[in-house]
Amino acid sequence: MSTILVTGASGHLGRLTLQHLLERRPATQLVGLARDPEKAADLAARGVEIRTGDYFDHDSLIRAFAGVEKVLLVPAPAFTDRSTQHATVIAAAEEAGVEHLVYTPIIRKAGSGVELPQVTAADTFTTKTLEASGLRSTILGHPPYLDNVQGYLGDDPFESGVRVPAGDGKVGWASREDLAEAQAVVLTDPGHEGRTYALHGGPAVSFSEVTEILSEIRGTAVQYLPLSDEEYLADLVAGGLPGPAAEFVLSWFHAINGGEWDDQPGDLEKLLGRKPTTSAEFLRDHFATAR
Ligand SMILES: NC(=O)c1ccc[n+]([C@@H]2O[C@H](COP(=O)([O-])OP(=O)(O)OC[C@H]3O[C@@H](n4cnc5c(N)ncnc54)[C@H](OP(=O)(O)O)[C@@H]3O)[C@@H](O)[C@H]2O)c1
Repeated sequence: MSTILVTGASGHLGRLTLQHLLERRPATQLVGLARDPEKAADLAARGVEIRTGDYFDHDSLIRAFAGVEKVLLVPAPAFTDRSTQHATVIAAAEEAGVEHLVYTPIIRKAGSGVELPQVTAADTFTTKTLEASGLRSTILGHPPYLDNVQGYLGDDPFESGVRVPAGDGKVGWASREDLAEAQAVVLTDPGHEGRTYALHGGPAVSFSEVTEILSEIRGTAVQYLPLSDEEYLADLVAGGLPGPAAEFVLSWFHAINGGEWDDQPGDLEKLLGRKPTTSAEFLRDHFATAR
């Protein structure tokens, strides 16, 4: 049985993936990578070996990848020179004798003209670098995360309404939990090497439909308040977000309203062997505990 290493073990997606892997493999076959192993102590307590490594530090990665057959590379956050980091991980994986690397870029439609600053160029670069390497690979395209939907809605959509850029684009949001489970399947079942999947959740919903879901949760109408781009940016900046960060968020709305992530679930449902969590289910759970 092969040893599987998941990077980002101290973060949301990496930790959840290791938790799902623990249901499918003994802990002795699992390794987590963390810059600070203390932040993954919960996984170590369950028997997962946590190795120290930094995407910028080639030698630390060579040490971490010793004896590992499969790696899930959780992408570095935006605004952190992702291309350099991912290229360093891929080169070290190849040098250390890793056989199969799984990468999770944001989904883009074939022929898409969408550019998300600090995201899509690095994803394209990483995917091409992987293709040109000697590693076998699997590309698991991610839609926007349901877990972040509140960040799009503002602090209190129930009181202030859903104040978002005007548009009727729909998103097949997926929960990190479902994506992590699908990743554990890909890392443990045969037949996924050389494949590319698009892990949409679904059904895809627009922000006016999200508003209807919130109204149903609250039991009274929540207002849907479509804004111009300028009004939306002003809202975010007034809420304390720096201008470049506000522009970054706006670029996601432009992609949403251009239909970039409006496909229905297919690959995610097949990998999970069940329907993914819907936006309505997720929001009901989230707001039941958050309010
Ligand atoms: N599809 C979407 O909607 C969406 C939204 C947001 C982000 N993303 C992407 O998905 C990734 C995972 O999401 P998440 O929610 O799990 O993020 P997260 O909780 O912030 O986790 C990111 C992980 O990457 C690790 N990391 C960052 N820089 C590193 C480096 N130089 N070397 C080694 N590890 C490093 C972090 O380690 P530390 O704990 O040491 O910081 C952390 O474990 C993000 O990084 C981002 O690229 C996608």
